[in-house]
Amino acid sequence: MSNFIAQLLEDHAGQNFELHEHHLNTQMVRVLKTIGYDRVYTKAKGPYLYDDQNNEYLDLLSGFGVYALGRNHPTVIAALKDVITSELPDMVQMDVSLLSGLLAEQLLQRCPDNLTKMFFCNSGTEAVEAAMKFSRYTTKRNKIVFCDHGYHGLTMGALSLNGENVFREGFGSLLPDCISVPFNDLSELEKALENRDVAAFIVEPIQGKGVNLPSDDYLPGVAALCKKYGTLFVADEVQTGIGRTGKFWAIEHWNVEPDMICMAKALSGGFIPVGGVAMTSQVMDAVFNRMDRAVVHGSTFSKNNMAMAAGLAALKVIDEERLVENAAKIGKDLMFGLQRQVDKYELFKSVRGKGLMIAIEFGSPKSLSLKAAWGMLEAANKGLFSQMITIPLFKNHRILSQVAGHGMNVVKFLPPLIINEKDCDWILTALDEVIADCHKVPGSIWDLGRTLTGHALKSKAGAS
Ligand SMILES: Cc1ncc(COP(=O)(O)O)c(C=O)c1O
Repeated sequence: MSNFIAQLLEDHAGQNFELHEHHLNTQMVRVLKTIGYDRVYTKAKGPYLYDDQNNEYLDLLSGFGVYALGRNHPTVIAALKDVITSELPDMVQMDVSLLSGLLAEQLLQRCPDNLTKMFFCNSGTEAVEAAMKFSRYTTKRNKIVFCDHGYHGLTMGALSLNGENVFREGFGSLLPDCISVPFNDLSELEKALENRDVAAFIVEPIQGKGVNLPSDDYLPGVAALCKKYGTLFVADEVQTGIGRTGKFWAIEHWNVEPDMICMAKALSGGFIPVGGVAMTSQVMDAVFNRMDRAVVHGSTFSKNNMAMAAGLAALKVIDEERLVENAAKIGKDLMFGLQRQVDKYELFKSVRGKGLMIAIEFGSPKSLSLKAAWGMLEAANKGLFSQMITIPLFKNHRILSQVAGHGMNVVKFLPPLIINEKDCDWILTALDEVIADCHKVPGSIWDLGRTLTGHALKSKAGAS
């Protein structure tokens, strides 16, 4: 029975949607079928996915940023095979493992000099939970300040720092003493910190929801204010970190030194969930301050050998293939091409981003016929237009992308950091065609808009 998984896959080929409809999240199945994303993927390599008809898709979603190295990278596979075949002792618990020591050392070498200690966990949200607890314990303060539209994960602590109501609603009381401020607003931040009772300010250097970039003085200002009022500055780099923005950490664009950096996603090499927090020794030594507190925070599976090997392999690939540099270069080329389309199309308002974290924003047109069609769609459901971009990109051009958040006409590209010029051409040609089609009223894209409006109105009316 050594190949029982291969046999299972063969015996049940194509039953994905049926199984999920019966045993998992039925609404997810409905969503995928409604928007025509109901493909059965059978293979993946690099930035490409392949369906059961052997069609090739370019993946600009990369598992929400997990697949920085692309999928099924041979170096990571080899590292994981090494671990499995080495019969290493794993999760002994009353022990300290070699691989976790090595990964900590390698990550800290890539962090600002003030960060000298690592804590490992299993996901982004767990990294945020750790940062919350550590900052409270270190400062002996309760309050945590976060940003409107921020996203830090969906466990109860991280959810208490979520800047979007849609994620929070209906889950009961969240953590007290979590206060939101507008992103990119230093004076509001100062008001929130000036009583010197805030443990931490947590912020994504570039916000994932909407791809909101700070002005150049924001993060340096944040660092100064946190220092002034004794608040710990936590940079949530779960999405922006490990090369995504064309620097290893996004904070490097603004030369700041936070007290903690949260990481996850790309560190997994696309295989084994892993999260971490890099921190100052002051934080580590405050939390783990006595022998009887040596296990005061942690989790059973953290630091497991497979996760640590995946992390080490991910860093090796990033260095060897110069993926940080590639993200910077290809990102720049792609944004240049996109900007030319902004100049060409009235519905296309702007392009923004850094490296390979890119958003394209659409907005109200000037010409009368388009204006009427746009108005109808916006009235039905704000932000619906962005799906008129993502759906044809997928169906007609086999490009997988995502809307950047709720209620906004922003489409986000988060491709693997390995994409090349050919992939860029694929994106630019496809997008040019889709946006050109959006400027034809009546036309097939606006027919799609009408269908989407129907679904949106139905769900607003509470149809299940
Ligand atoms: C900035 C940020 N923080 C935290 C998280 C949560 O990570 P995870 O989904 O691994 O729990 C995410 C996930 O998208 C994120 O983008």
